[in-house]
Amino acid sequence: MTERERVTLPNDGRCKEELLEEMQGMRAHDARWQDGKTWSMIYHPGEEHHEFLKRAHNLFFSENALNPMAFKSLKRMETEVIDMTASLLHGDEHTAGTMTSGGTESILLAVKCYRDLARKKKPWILRPEIVAPQSIHVAFDKAAHAFGLRLKKVPLGPDYRVDVRRLHKAISRNTIMIAASAPQYAHGVLDPIEEIASIAEARSIPFHVDACFGGFILPWLEKLGYPIAPFDFRIPGVTSISSDIHKYGYAPKGCSTILYRNMDYLKHQFFAVTDWPGGIYVSPTLPGSRPGSAIASAWASLMALGETGFMQLAHDAIKTTEELRYGIEAIAEFEIVGSPECTIVSYTTSPGIEDFSIYGIADFMETQGWGVDRQQLPPCIHCSVNAFNANQVRPYLDDLRRAVAYCRSNPGTDDAGNAAMYGMMAKLPSRRFVKYSVLRVMELMYAPGKVDFDFEELTADEGSVLSLLNTYGRKAINALTEFSALEKLFRNKR
Ligand SMILES: Cc1ncc(COP(=O)(O)O)c(C=O)c1O
Repeated sequence: MTERERVTLPNDGRCKEELLEEMQGMRAHDARWQDGKTWSMIYHPGEEHHEFLKRAHNLFFSENALNPMAFKSLKRMETEVIDMTASLLHGDEHTAGTMTSGGTESILLAVKCYRDLARKKKPWILRPEIVAPQSIHVAFDKAAHAFGLRLKKVPLGPDYRVDVRRLHKAISRNTIMIAASAPQYAHGVLDPIEEIASIAEARSIPFHVDACFGGFILPWLEKLGYPIAPFDFRIPGVTSISSDIHKYGYAPKGCSTILYRNMDYLKHQFFAVTDWPGGIYVSPTLPGSRPGSAIASAWASLMALGETGFMQLAHDAIKTTEELRYGIEAIAEFEIVGSPECTIVSYTTSPGIEDFSIYGIADFMETQGWGVDRQQLPPCIHCSVNAFNANQVRPYLDDLRRAVAYCRSNPGTDDAGNAAMYGMMAKLPSRRFVKYSVLRVMELMYAPGKVDFDFEELTADEGSVLSLLNTYGRKAINALTEFSALEKLFRNKR
């Protein structure tokens, strides 16, 4: 660990030019998304749009949407963002919603809303439950944890969509909401929204569609003629949709929407306290202060691109996705996970490939400067694709072929570094131990004054996954895996 002194405020303010230069320097080791080599986290429609959004953002740099009466401009823009999103998602004149700071906040709010609705309409439910696919975004785990609900996760079918029969069976008298994705982040497939909606409607249970990823791209893909199954307010049982503008709406981070079929739902999202010495306080979303700049840049992004701009970007993104997907499929050592319908490609090693793992490939790709998103269940690599990745598809495929050759000629690469750690994390039967290890990473990363974090530090951390791997090697994992299989067998026989 590199020792460094804790920073204190400078006595006098420093030279602004120098500060800007220093900040520019700090970016040297950041993910280099500008060259299109990062396949997640960034949604970039081009420099010109970016520069325009900075101007829009700066116009409302200090404004606060905490009080919608104080800044009527912000209230108007928020309303218009909701109007535009509602029309894209086939809402009607009753569709109501708010802007939020991101997909996670939109989901937290939907869960809070349906919990409070159930408290009012079904007060006999003492242990409220959410029923959702195993692939639902972790924001639902966070929400269930924060609002005291149980999240019942339903297994996926072989096509990575939720198994509707099992979802139906998971619904009980305690179910206060059902959720599903359009599409889910991990593999880019859409859950069978229509089927789930009809179950939800028949049981009078609210149904939330998480379209955080797809909300601002699927409608354009449908218009372009791609066979996208309806997932929005056209389906009667859908009661709410989350849709992120900071993804394919191309606004800066901090912009999402949560929409409900009507005010009868949205009103349960609001929060009011009337006996605070600071005054009567009422708030539409989770934060107190709400950055006006986020609302302004979301509004500006939608207005500046318009249908034509979005259609062009969607066209370019899906063509890039197809090129990447078919390119990966053409490499015998890989196969695509599921059958993605959106702009996500997840791939793993083909059946029968045993001399290297997908995590060994991920490590090699990282050494070539690619931003890699590793997933588990099954172990695979995820790519969220944008138009701006187009020039990088060929170099990426070339490097993938080189990765295969490298892993083949260097057997055992998976036994070290990140490949070993991710491999072990994915395989370890004790998920509690994995959880302990990743929480230790957070403690090490956020230790007071800590800036750099080196995974090697985990090796020294007793009880962590890496130290286990270092001390006992791969054999430990194999033994634990066998042990858990035996335990399962024993349990089933009893
Ligand atoms: C399907 C889905 N839901 C929710 C989220 C959470 O969004 P955020 O990271 O903006 O909180 C994501 C993010 O990738 C997502 O893909």
